[in-house]
Amino acid sequence: MEDIVGLCKRRGFIFASSEIYGGYNGFYDYGPLGVELRNNIKQAWWRDFVHRRDDIEGLDSSIIMHPKIWKASGHVDGFSDPLVDCKESKKRYRADQLFFAPVILDGEQVGYVAFVEGTDSASIIKRAKKVRDHLDKKQATLDEAALDNDRTEFTEATAEQRTQTLGPDASKVDTLTAPREFKLMFETKVGPLADDSAVAYLRPETAQGIFANYKNIVDTGRVKIPFGIAQIGKAFRNEITPRNFIFRSREFEQMEIEYFIAPEADWQALHREWLDTCIDWLVSIGLPREDITEDVHPTEKLAFYSQATTDLMFHFPHGEQELWGIACRSDYDLKQHQEHSGKSMEFFDEASKSKYVPHVIEPSLGVDRTLLAVLTAAYCEDEVPNDKGQVEKRTVMKFSPKIAPVKAAIFPLLKNKPELVDVAEKLYKKLQRRWNVFYDASGAIGRRYRRQDEIGTPFGITIDFDTIEKDGTVTLRDRDTCEQRRVSEAELIEFLEEQIDG
Ligand code: GAP
Repeated sequence: MEDIVGLCKRRGFIFASSEIYGGYNGFYDYGPLGVELRNNIKQAWWRDFVHRRDDIEGLDSSIIMHPKIWKASGHVDGFSDPLVDCKESKKRYRADQLFFAPVILDGEQVGYVAFVEGTDSASIIKRAKKVRDHLDKKQATLDEAALDNDRTEFTEATAEQRTQTLGPDASKVDTLTAPREFKLMFETKVGPLADDSAVAYLRPETAQGIFANYKNIVDTGRVKIPFGIAQIGKAFRNEITPRNFIFRSREFEQMEIEYFIAPEADWQALHREWLDTCIDWLVSIGLPREDITEDVHPTEKLAFYSQATTDLMFHFPHGEQELWGIACRSDYDLKQHQEHSGKSMEFFDEASKSKYVPHVIEPSLGVDRTLLAVLTAAYCEDEVPNDKGQVEKRTVMKFSPKIAPVKAAIFPLLKNKPELVDVAEKLYKKLQRRWNVFYDASGAIGRRYRRQDEIGTPFGITIDFDTIEKDGTVTLRDRDTCEQRRVSEAELIEFLEEQIDG
């Protein structure tokens, strides 16, 4: 993660928000390359799920909506996380991301250690040894296996267990409070009145904007069940513990689809179909298939309205974590809005001549999390020969051409030869009309390649003397293999089209 964060700052992908004031926890800014990568991810998603499908329509709803929407959806009363405070360190933890394990000395249980999700075994053992040292039992044998095998979520800790637990950042036991519910929605006030009636919320998900517009789209479009509504937009959550770079932040963006189906449809089969479609899409933007797994939520942990939820997990630098949630939400949301708004959410199905409130399958993906997955998959350090044929280390971002921030770099071999520069500039202007390309005339050609490798530009195009003196062909260099071949301008454009837009 450190390497990725370092590269993102150094090359202008991502900066901490408000950095000149020391940063602002949970907020990030996207620099020149970051905004390109982010836009390319969103455009690829929109193109594949909206433009290239006949059954999905797009939407862009407002971020602040009528507060009654959040009452109906259950967010006002229920959208919270269990929060645990440490009275000593003043740190805060999400109880469902905090675990505790027994400290067993010479076979006798003497207390517990708490640690946040993702903490490595060696650090947990170190903390358990702290408990042992406090008890003045330095010679006692610590049961290290129990620390690994007997872990429980802190939400399940009894009052007695809490008093015997050493918190992750505490120096003594009994500093962690009981979990209490912490509301995640950001509040604001709308209009000139500053009283409670003016309270509104920044949306914590884009999904409710879709449900609130479902009737508009059914009434104005010519949709047939099954159909989907897709939306990309900002969402805000006052996360207790924003961390792991852009993985969990307080302002983020979602790409969500609500896919409406008939109540009697085979939702299990459709759910599976959606999982496969989503996996294929992740692979299409360059994530390795073997780094994507499925986490099926156990029935007892499902929200009461959910029939099934499976998360697509990705192997992030900080472990295997949720990337894309794909939930079957039944008719819960539409029925809630029907009840609270008094407006019918029934759909008249021409095919079956019946009326019903549709059920829904919801694939919900974070833009920022996808971007982190893409950065993780692309980051690579390897060795390649330099101009003099000596092997050199390089950092290369192996982005898929579909989402790479810069698609190609155009280099005149020498900057002081006007005939080379002229041809290179013309080609640059031509390609720039279609794609984000880069022109670089300064420095040794090898160094110019290397600079592009580090920002993940998939193709290098060099204009040399053969171009102007012989057949007009240019050298096309592949970022990953470093292989070079000569192509005509027509071949170049056809190749780029296939690689970038295909
Ligand atoms: N409408 C359903 C919904 O919002 P969710 O699992 O809470 O479900 C969906 O969020 C996706 O949004 C997650 O899988 C993740 O990719 C992204 N996401 C959620 N909270 C996030 C946060 N604090 N920071 C970045 N991405 C987040």
